[in-house]
Amino acid sequence: MRILVINGPNINMLGIREPEIYGSKTYEDLVQFIEDVCAEQGISVSVFQSNHEGAIVDAIQGAYGVYDGIIINPAAYTHTSIAILDALKAVSLPAVEVHLSDINTREDFRRVSYPGMACIKTFSGMGFDSYRHAILFIRNQIFQM
Ligand code: DQA
Repeated sequence: MRILVINGPNINMLGIREPEIYGSKTYEDLVQFIEDVCAEQGISVSVFQSNHEGAIVDAIQGAYGVYDGIIINPAAYTHTSIAILDALKAVSLPAVEVHLSDINTREDFRRVSYPGMACIKTFSGMGFDSYRHAILFIRNQIFQM
Protein backbone atom coordinates (compact mmCIF):
# COMPACT_ATOMS: atom_id res chain seq x y z
CA MET A 1 0.00 0.00 0.00
CA ARG A 2 1.36 3.38 -1.03
CA ILE A 3 0.02 6.67 0.24
CA LEU A 4 0.89 10.28 -0.49
CA VAL A 5 0.75 12.84 2.31
CA ILE A 6 0.41 16.43 1.07
CA ASN A 7 0.95 19.48 3.27
CA GLY A 8 0.03 22.94 2.07
CA PRO A 9 1.36 26.45 2.65
CA ASN A 10 3.17 27.40 5.84
CA ILE A 11 3.15 23.86 7.22
CA ASN A 12 6.93 24.00 6.60
CA MET A 13 7.00 26.77 9.23
CA LEU A 14 5.83 24.50 12.06
CA GLY A 15 7.74 25.19 15.25
CA ILE A 16 8.06 28.86 14.30
CA ARG A 17 4.52 29.82 13.24
CA GLU A 18 1.95 30.53 15.95
CA PRO A 19 3.21 27.89 18.39
CA GLU A 20 0.23 28.55 20.67
CA ILE A 21 -1.95 27.10 17.88
CA TYR A 22 0.33 24.68 16.05
CA GLY A 23 2.74 23.61 18.79
CA SER A 24 6.51 23.78 19.05
CA LYS A 25 7.45 20.75 16.98
CA THR A 26 8.96 21.37 13.54
CA TYR A 27 7.96 20.25 10.06
CA GLU A 28 10.86 17.79 10.13
CA ASP A 29 9.35 16.33 13.32
CA LEU A 30 6.01 15.98 11.53
CA VAL A 31 7.58 14.17 8.56
CA GLN A 32 9.40 11.82 10.96
CA PHE A 33 6.12 11.20 12.83
CA ILE A 34 4.27 10.35 9.60
CA GLU A 35 7.09 8.06 8.43
CA ASP A 36 7.19 6.27 11.80
CA VAL A 37 3.42 5.66 11.88
CA CYS A 38 3.47 4.40 8.29
CA ALA A 39 6.46 2.12 8.99
CA GLU A 40 4.61 0.62 11.98
CA GLN A 41 1.67 -0.10 9.69
CA GLY A 42 3.75 -1.45 6.80
CA ILE A 43 2.65 1.42 4.56
CA SER A 44 4.94 3.00 2.00
CA VAL A 45 4.62 6.79 2.22
CA SER A 46 5.80 9.87 0.37
CA VAL A 47 5.46 13.24 2.08
CA PHE A 48 5.15 16.37 -0.04
CA GLN A 49 4.88 20.01 1.04
CA SER A 50 4.33 23.09 -1.09
CA ASN A 51 3.37 26.69 -0.59
CA HIS A 52 1.92 26.79 -4.13
CA GLU A 53 -1.59 25.80 -5.10
CA GLY A 54 -0.63 24.64 -8.61
CA ALA A 55 2.15 22.44 -7.25
CA ILE A 56 -0.37 20.77 -4.96
CA VAL A 57 -2.74 20.23 -7.91
CA ASP A 58 0.20 18.71 -9.84
CA ALA A 59 1.05 16.41 -6.91
CA ILE A 60 -2.56 15.19 -6.72
CA GLN A 61 -2.70 14.56 -10.47
CA GLY A 62 0.66 12.76 -10.28
CA ALA A 63 -0.72 10.44 -7.61
CA TYR A 64 -3.09 8.85 -10.12
CA GLY A 65 -1.97 5.30 -10.85
CA VAL A 66 0.93 5.59 -8.39
CA TYR A 67 -0.64 5.82 -4.91
CA ASP A 68 -3.57 4.01 -3.29
CA GLY A 69 -4.70 7.03 -1.29
CA ILE A 70 -4.00 10.62 -0.33
CA ILE A 71 -3.86 12.34 3.04
CA ILE A 72 -3.98 16.10 2.66
CA ASN A 73 -3.60 19.09 4.92
CA PRO A 74 -4.36 21.84 2.41
CA ALA A 75 -3.63 24.47 5.11
CA ALA A 76 -4.99 27.89 4.06
CA TYR A 77 -6.04 26.48 0.66
CA THR A 78 -8.62 24.48 2.60
CA HIS A 79 -10.79 27.55 2.69
CA THR A 80 -10.25 28.82 -0.86
CA SER A 81 -9.22 26.14 -3.32
CA ILE A 82 -11.74 24.76 -5.75
CA ALA A 83 -8.72 23.73 -7.87
CA ILE A 84 -7.57 21.32 -5.15
CA LEU A 85 -11.14 20.06 -4.72
CA ASP A 86 -11.40 19.42 -8.48
CA ALA A 87 -7.99 17.68 -8.59
CA LEU A 88 -9.06 15.30 -5.80
CA LYS A 89 -12.30 14.60 -7.66
CA ALA A 90 -10.38 14.08 -10.92
CA VAL A 91 -8.09 11.35 -9.60
CA SER A 92 -10.85 9.83 -7.47
CA LEU A 93 -8.42 8.24 -5.02
CA PRO A 94 -9.54 7.74 -1.42
CA ALA A 95 -8.56 10.98 0.30
CA VAL A 96 -8.57 12.01 3.96
CA GLU A 97 -8.32 15.62 5.13
CA VAL A 98 -6.26 16.53 8.20
CA HIS A 99 -5.72 19.65 10.26
CA LEU A 100 -3.48 20.21 13.24
CA SER A 101 -5.86 22.76 14.76
CA ASP A 102 -9.63 22.50 15.07
CA ILE A 103 -10.85 24.48 12.06
CA ASN A 104 -14.42 24.47 13.40
CA THR A 105 -13.62 26.38 16.58
CA ARG A 106 -11.46 29.15 15.09
CA GLU A 107 -12.43 32.07 12.81
CA ASP A 108 -15.65 31.65 10.82
CA PHE A 109 -13.76 31.67 7.50
CA ARG A 110 -12.01 28.44 8.50
CA ARG A 111 -15.27 26.52 8.76
CA VAL A 112 -15.56 25.99 5.01
CA SER A 113 -13.35 23.30 3.47
CA TYR A 114 -13.47 22.91 -0.31
CA PRO A 115 -10.99 19.98 -0.56
CA GLY A 116 -12.87 18.35 2.32
CA MET A 117 -15.86 17.96 0.01
CA ALA A 118 -13.87 15.33 -1.93
CA CYS A 119 -12.53 13.57 1.20
CA ILE A 120 -14.07 10.56 2.88
CA LYS A 121 -13.14 11.81 6.35
CA THR A 122 -11.60 14.75 8.19
CA PHE A 123 -9.44 14.61 11.32
CA SER A 124 -8.96 18.03 12.89
CA GLY A 125 -7.69 19.52 16.11
CA MET A 126 -5.46 16.72 17.37
CA GLY A 127 -2.04 18.06 16.38
CA PHE A 128 0.22 15.38 14.90
CA ASP A 129 -2.30 12.75 16.03
CA SER A 130 -4.70 14.00 13.33
CA TYR A 131 -2.24 12.44 10.86
CA ARG A 132 -2.06 9.19 12.83
CA HIS A 133 -5.85 8.87 12.77
CA ALA A 134 -5.89 9.65 9.06
CA ILE A 135 -3.23 7.02 8.28
CA LEU A 136 -5.07 4.30 10.24
CA PHE A 137 -8.40 5.29 8.68
CA ILE A 138 -7.15 5.29 5.09
CA ARG A 139 -5.34 1.99 5.63
CA ASN A 140 -8.63 0.36 6.70
CA GLN A 141 -10.48 2.02 3.84
CA ILE A 142 -8.00 0.81 1.20
CA PHE A 143 -8.00 -2.74 2.67
CA GLN A 144 -11.79 -2.87 2.27
CA MET A 145 -11.66 -1.88 -1.43
C1 DQA B 1 -4.46 24.20 9.22
C2 DQA B 1 -5.68 25.08 9.49
C3 DQA B 1 -5.84 26.13 8.42
O1 DQA B 1 -6.98 26.94 8.68
C4 DQA B 1 -4.62 27.03 8.38
O2 DQA B 1 -4.73 27.96 7.32
C5 DQA B 1 -3.35 26.27 8.28
C6 DQA B 1 -3.21 25.05 9.06
C7 DQA B 1 -4.21 23.20 10.36
O3 DQA B 1 -3.50 22.23 10.11
O4 DQA B 1 -4.68 23.41 11.47
O5 DQA B 1 -2.40 26.70 7.67
O6 DQA B 1 -4.70 23.47 8.04
